[in-house]
Parts: sequence; C-alpha cells; structure tokens
Amino acid sequence: MKPLVLISPGTLNVPEDVSDTLRELAAVVYLEGDLDERIAEASALLVGGERIDAGFLAKAPKLGIAARFGVGYDNVDVEACTARKVYATHTPDVLSGAVADHTWALILGFMRRIPEAGAYTRTEWAKRGRRLPFGWDMEGKVLGILGLGRIGSEVLKRSQGFGVETMYNDLVEKPGMEERYGVKRVDLDTLLRESDVLTVHVPLTPLTRGMIGAEELGKMKPSAVLVNTSRGPVIDEEALIEALKNKWIRGAALDVFEEEPTPLDNPLLGMDNFVATPHHASATWETRRKMAETAVANIRAYLEGRRPPNLVPEQRDAEF
Ligand code: 8YV
Repeated sequence: MKPLVLISPGTLNVPEDVSDTLRELAAVVYLEGDLDERIAEASALLVGGERIDAGFLAKAPKLGIAARFGVGYDNVDVEACTARKVYATHTPDVLSGAVADHTWALILGFMRRIPEAGAYTRTEWAKRGRRLPFGWDMEGKVLGILGLGRIGSEVLKRSQGFGVETMYNDLVEKPGMEERYGVKRVDLDTLLRESDVLTVHVPLTPLTRGMIGAEELGKMKPSAVLVNTSRGPVIDEEALIEALKNKWIRGAALDVFEEEPTPLDNPLLGMDNFVATPHHASATWETRRKMAETAVANIRAYLEGRRPPNLVPEQRDAEF
C-alpha cells in the first residue's frame, strides 16, 4: 500500500496539479473535516494553522514529516517532532516578496486612507458632501523595521524610492544591509520613539509574544502608525485597542490577529484609525503556488528517503 499524504484543510489554495506530482509515490488526500480522522494512517502532513505538538504526534504513529505551508512554524512544536524523529519543514524565501508587497500596501493604505477614500468615492464624492479624506506623505518619515530577516529586508528594499529614513532593530547585526541601504541599527526603545511607521517582522517565539504592549505603545509618537504582517500575538491586542481609542498613536494596520479569524465583535474592526486584512499577505496566485511547490518538494524528498531541503533551523543538524 502506498503511504498516505494528508493535506490539511488549513492550507487553502494548494493547487491540485502540484499535489498530483506526489501521486506516483503516495495516496494524496485533501482533508475537509477533522484532521484526527485520518492522522493515524498518515506518513506525511501538509500543515496549515493547526497545532502540531506531542499530543497530536501521539495520534500519528506513522508520521515522518510535518511540512508547513508557510514560513512561520510557531504552531509546530519542533522539539516534540525531533523527539519523535518527525521532520519539520517550512517554505522560506518564496513568500518574502509577496508579504513585503502587502506590508507596503498596508502602509500606503493607511497613510493615503485608501479604505475610506474608496468608501467616499462610492457615497459622498458625487454629492460633494464631506471633505476628501486627506492622508500623509511618506517622504521625510522614519520607517522602523522590527526584525530585519527575510521579509523585513524585502520591506526595506522596497522603501528605497519613498524618501524615507530607515532604522531597524534585530537580535542580529546586518552590516551588509546597513551598507547597501543606509539602514541604521537601533535599540528597541529608539525604534519605538523615532518611527513614524513601525512595521513588525519577527517570528512568534516566547521572546516576541506580547513584545509590543502598553509600555511600548506608550513610547511611540502620537503620529505613529503600527503595521503587522508577522503574527498577531506579537502585539498585545488589548493594549493596542486602548492605544487607538486614546490616540496614543495615529493608527494601525494589521494582517494578523491574536485570534484568527478575528471575531466580528473585535473593537478594532469598528475603529476608523484601523486598517485590516484577513491574514493574506502571502495570498497571491503566484506565491501560493510557489509555497505549495516548496512544501510538496519537502514531502517528496521524505517519501524518496532523502533529507527534505527546507528543514526548520532547529532541525538542520538533527540526524534521523
Ligand atoms: C500563510 C504565513 O498565510 O508563511 C506564513 O507563515 O503565515 C502565511 O504565509 C499561512 O501559512 C497559510 O497557512
């Protein structure tokens, strides 16, 4: 019997012609319902947002690879996978450009008030009613990048034509980026105090969970805008709601939320100094295809008895 590859319902848009390339090696099943129903038989899993931990792995005795459909793997307990000799892979690089583009869409969407301008065009413009929704220039502003990794670097590259001053905070110094793009490394305090637009690009880890809370928001300029396309829990949402209500900062634009999908009664959704998108920064046809190809290549390698090319960093030296 061929091994079973399960595609979790959380991995939206995995094109069938991509997953079909595995059919010579495995039975491929797109799951619609509960993952638990078939996991006992599965050799490989294409992972969406579900939590892969020791409890889950205990239900999956045949599993040899948990292949994330995405770059972030905060929902995968890598230690538990390693202990069970289950490969953990992800899809780095292929989505960095799309996420950086979306970050800029959010920055400009907020600064030029695109959602309100769209609504105005449909309702008020012909009536010459209320005033045009004026926005703010990017030129001369300070763009702060929290996390200058793959995606943060792409955001920085795209900043070059906007006439902004750029600074970053990262655990690791990036002399190459500093030299090439004139970006300045600063401590978190300085980044918070000086950014006009602060964009977040850190992975979700115990260190980054809640790293932007009331204290940090309180240090930001009243004219500052906070943008997040990384993971919702990096920002304390309660604190952000307070900050937006009380105008500690000018506004925020989020693609990611503490709970996803974010409930309709999330107070953020009713605020006019808030721009929202539904965790879809990587959701372009081209990028989602590349993500699927990368995840499928990881599964193929495992099924062929090779080491998957995109192991998460914590497993790079692991010997299974
Ligand atoms: C996807 C992501 O939306 O890459 C990531 O880590 O969060 C996004 O690209 C998600 O992985 C789809 O399941």
